[in-house]
Amino acid sequence: MESLQIGDLHIKLPIIQGGMGVAISLSGLASAVANEGGVGVISAVAIGMTEPGYEKNFREANKSALRREIRKAKSLTDGVLGVNIMLAVTDYEDMLRISLEEKIDIVFIGAGLFLRKPSSIPDSLLENSKTKFVPKVSSAKAAKLIFQYWANKYNYVPDAVVVEGPLAGGHLGFKKDDLENQKFSLPNLISETVSEMVPFEQRFGIKIPVIAAGGIYNGKDMYKIMQFGAKAVKIGTRFVTTYECDASMEYKESYLKCRKEDITIIDSPVGLPGRVVLNDFVKKIQNGYAKPVKCPWKCLKTCNFKEVKYCIAEALFNSARGNMSEGFSFAGSNAYKATKIQTVKETINDLIFEYKSNMYKMAI
Ligand SMILES: Cc1cc2nc3c(=O)[nH]c(=O)nc-3n(C[C@H](O)[C@H](O)[C@H](O)COP(=O)(O)O)c2cc1C
Repeated sequence: MESLQIGDLHIKLPIIQGGMGVAISLSGLASAVANEGGVGVISAVAIGMTEPGYEKNFREANKSALRREIRKAKSLTDGVLGVNIMLAVTDYEDMLRISLEEKIDIVFIGAGLFLRKPSSIPDSLLENSKTKFVPKVSSAKAAKLIFQYWANKYNYVPDAVVVEGPLAGGHLGFKKDDLENQKFSLPNLISETVSEMVPFEQRFGIKIPVIAAGGIYNGKDMYKIMQFGAKAVKIGTRFVTTYECDASMEYKESYLKCRKEDITIIDSPVGLPGRVVLNDFVKKIQNGYAKPVKCPWKCLKTCNFKEVKYCIAEALFNSARGNMSEGFSFAGSNAYKATKIQTVKETINDLIFEYKSNMYKMAI
């Protein structure tokens, strides 16, 4: 298995743990993955909910919680760490600024056209920064658009790109009707994006690794997608059922207990489809139940909090803390394959073993 190189950043294993909110991947999971040689990623979305009294000042709570988790992760590992920031969050620039101030190795940014230097980020912060910028997209077209925009504006391009296909957990960048369309299968998306990156690699004389995400559960999936040109994989679901994952045991058990048919798509209040494990709370919302929203702060730019039936940040945080009757778990299409809780070390060893046995099988 080849290591991953993003610019001057060397990563021993081509395995990136996907950032998972709300409060599913914090310093615990991220540092454990980084210690094994992969990239551990803290999810910044609504991270302030982990601070006592966050309702009084959500913005400040987000800032202090992100700083706290980055520092904690750094104290637990010398490995490579990232922060996942959604462009759709109201305080995107605050989250980016803190990640840069804390000298995080990589920022993963989903979804949309973003600037390397929004107006509130001082030049001095970027001048000597070694932080890598990696956008997450759902199509080759979107990747090209971002790279073209940066090339024209800065004469510079992002350091790598994550392509997330329709089998992923959490919010999805596809229309509900397109989720099963083969045109949007991960192998197709990866091949197309690898081709789109070639002109940028030639123009700037660099390598732009394409990273595959969505539905990669074992080493066989990993090996397969790398044959289409992916240089690394970004895995979320498989890391939820680890001891080190920062979610409650109830959240992890929702994966262990679920069957294939329990993994379903909801219309998230933020206007995107989301993949979740079906439970009583999900059934209630599907049947028209509405939980009044007392929004302390509009955390997502796209959320119409006066009209939504429930607060998704609250529902996700409830489940992260074990209150599954007032929330639900986000999960990838392969979550039903989980049979036990393992350590991150065991999980990564399994992935490597499965990858290698598949590689040898192909070679025979
Ligand atoms: C529980 C869960 C929470 C997630 N939360 C976020 C998030 O807050 N922001 C984001 O950009 N992606 C999020 N994702 C997507 C992951 O970062 C990753 O891209 C995805 O999990 C890959 O697919 P897989 O789950 O099939 O491995 C989440 C995924 C899961 C399973």
